[in-house]
Amino acid sequence: METLYTREELHGRIVELANEITETYKPFTDEIMAVCVLKGAVHFFSDLVLEMKLNVMYSFVQVSSYSGSGSTERIKVKSWLDESIYGKHILVVEDIVDTGITLDYILRYFSKYNPATLKVVTLFEKTAHRKVDVPIDFVGFKIDDKFILGYGFDYDQKNRNLPYVGFKNA
Ligand code: IMP
Ligand code: MG
Repeated sequence: METLYTREELHGRIVELANEITETYKPFTDEIMAVCVLKGAVHFFSDLVLEMKLNVMYSFVQVSSYSGSGSTERIKVKSWLDESIYGKHILVVEDIVDTGITLDYILRYFSKYNPATLKVVTLFEKTAHRKVDVPIDFVGFKIDDKFILGYGFDYDQKNRNLPYVGFKNA
């Protein structure tokens, strides 16, 4: 496994993102609800919210479109919001946007519930296989066509707890 980003590099960028997000919301609200898209975003979500200088309420959804290392293009909803997002400032926290299908699904449903604002942060963005044009407000790192593992990213549920982001060299 090759290291793409060390834990320190990830953390450095996450602090920058958290500051950017804080500055974006501060002019109009000091309270937001961050929605973690499980399972992949678990570590990113946790590190990010701790660095934000806002009151952050937490919510979790578990949605996936993947099996193995390829998109199935079918969305599986395993758990959903446990409280209303109506009238709230919602920040969707994603691990990675690849085809865009997962995020598009989430955004479509969330907008029907009429949140006050709806924004997205993703730790990684891949553009090579984008199928749906999804709006992303904050991006940690743009990467080319690599399958990454660790810091929440899995291959068939394995390798999530590596304390860095790596990839397998073919
Ligand atoms: P999308 O619906 O194609 O945008 O896929 C998004 C989901 O695919 C992410 O939330 C990840 O769970 C998964 N995914 C995409 N690329 C990778 C990768 O390189 N490593 C691990 N999971 C990935
Ligand atoms: Mg996943």
